Amino acid sequence: MFSRITGIGSFLPGEPVSNDDLARRGIETSDQWISSRTGIRFRHLAENGETSSDLALEASHRALAGAGLAASDLDLIIVATSTPDFIFPSTACLLQSKLGNHGATAFDVQAVCSGFVYALTIADKFIRSGSHRRALVVGSEVFSRILDWSDRATCVLFGDGAGAVVVEASEQPGILATALHADGAHHGILAVPGSVCGGQVTGDPFLRMDGQAVFKFAVRVLAEVAEECCRAAGISPADIDWLIPHQANIRILEATAKRMKLSMDKVIVTVDRHGNTSAASVPLALDEAVRNRRIQAGQKVLLEGVGGGFTWGAVLLEL
Ligand code: UT7
Repeated sequence: MFSRITGIGSFLPGEPVSNDDLARRGIETSDQWISSRTGIRFRHLAENGETSSDLALEASHRALAGAGLAASDLDLIIVATSTPDFIFPSTACLLQSKLGNHGATAFDVQAVCSGFVYALTIADKFIRSGSHRRALVVGSEVFSRILDWSDRATCVLFGDGAGAVVVEASEQPGILATALHADGAHHGILAVPGSVCGGQVTGDPFLRMDGQAVFKFAVRVLAEVAEECCRAAGISPADIDWLIPHQANIRILEATAKRMKLSMDKVIVTVDRHGNTSAASVPLALDEAVRNRRIQAGQKVLLEGVGGGFTWGAVLLEL
């Protein structure tokens, strides 16, 4: 028994917000700085009150429509998010309620920007074990809520959005290999080091990052885990038709492609228009590339995540 993606959907809230728009809102920055250092030109920002489960719902409806399934057909719902609606219940349970599904297994995965790759790997293992047959796997984030808008080194980098896939049991292989890793020793270089205690925020409720340390770490592990995942499937990186790395910074994507000796023509890029949407970035990019027919049925696609924790991982699949 294998698992296979049978439906893909995504959702971006509101209108694109340009780098110049951010400068006009009083952030001491410029389009020239942001686009040359990161490749980011636009991001989408959720309205006040628009939550991760709201964005997830729109993306999920589209993925279910693509798979030709109703929400009641699902027996597993996994949401990858670091910006849940509440401390509890899980965003997966809130999404389940909005979808009108009753009884499916539902839980959140917290692996920050690797969250979708973690969640997809978990769904693959549930399905291959035979315990579940139809999974909804979502990455959904409202990072705009945890940004310190007075810290120009971080607030210009992130955006909000959601992407979802339906994964079903299949006799034909879809997901070919997976690899997940973490090393908590690096927890300090990217974190929201706060919590709630006694009705107060303790620590710091904003995203804090050592950008250069994250950059170096990301480039190294994205190339390593891509090779590991290809080895597990018995192929070489040159056999990949498309690489979809976590969309954090165009320079990270270029450095990863270079290390893997892949042309940028094989790399799906959405960071220019979405910014870094954390766990949503990979399914958003996958959905766009499938909808605009760059990715075709039967091609080999390598998805990659890297993020706070530190966590990293890859999923090699055929659509
Ligand atoms: O999911 C993983 C998420 N994290 C990432 O992907 C981040 C990875 N890291 C990076 O992408 C880069 O490290 C950044 C884009 C965050 C920063 O680029 P950098 O080349 O490492 O710049 P820097 O932090 O060394 O800052 C260089 C200068 C500083 O000014 P001085 O000290 O040289 O005068 C900053 O104050 O750029 C300044 N600066 C800005 N200027 C205009 C920092 N942010 C901005 C800004 N606009 N938004």
